[in-house]
Amino acid sequence: MDTFEAIKTRRAVKHYDPNHQMTGDEIEQLMSLVKLSPTAFNIQNFRFVSVQDQSLRESIRAVSWDQAQVTDASLLLILCADLKAWEKEPARYWDNAPEEVRDFMVPAIDQYYRDKEQVQRDEAMRSCGIAAQTIMLAAKAMGYDTCPMDGFDFDAVAKLINLPDDHVIAMFVAVGKATKAAWERPGQLPIDEILLKDHF
Ligand SMILES: Cc1cc2nc3c(=O)[nH]c(=O)nc-3n(C[C@H](O)[C@H](O)[C@H](O)COP(=O)(O)O)c2cc1C
Repeated sequence: MDTFEAIKTRRAVKHYDPNHQMTGDEIEQLMSLVKLSPTAFNIQNFRFVSVQDQSLRESIRAVSWDQAQVTDASLLLILCADLKAWEKEPARYWDNAPEEVRDFMVPAIDQYYRDKEQVQRDEAMRSCGIAAQTIMLAAKAMGYDTCPMDGFDFDAVAKLINLPDDHVIAMFVAVGKATKAAWERPGQLPIDEILLKDHF
């Protein structure tokens, strides 16, 4: 599937075959593509919790507006981010870079994030948002449908997955075999409303 096709055919699908299982190879393929998603300074702050325990899925569904995707999708990924990834051995993010690049980047990372809670949180959401789109397009190309989700109680889910204090949850992405197509696109804004020339 080419990129344009994947973008045009990706839809937020809400009904999945609960009996379908993704193979380990498919999950590996998907995650090996997802980890190529860009992050600022290559800090790779995203963390993905794949919820496999069905009773945990039920508990999560109970705090997610009873949305069926949570229990029925083949894969339920909770996109989290480590707010402190920038200070956890940052040199490893530039392991393969030339020494002069690493020597420039590592202190720059510290300068960019230290004591800037809002920047750390914004970066978490940026990284997870981009990763979510990679998941959705890669899954589409692999023959799967997806649903991005933030309709859930973030604090309750954090407790259920033992989210560390220095991590945040950005969203879920459910991946599976659709049993019902998405409804018609609800309405797209005209390009001239979303694309501005030079300034507002
Ligand atoms: C951040 C985010 C959160 C969303 N949360 C939910 C959700 O909790 N449940 C749901 O069914 N759809 C959810 N959606 C799907 C949107 O409703 C859907 O993407 C939008 O209506 C456009 O439809 P389309 O993705 O099929 O083009 C979410 C989408 C995004 C990007």
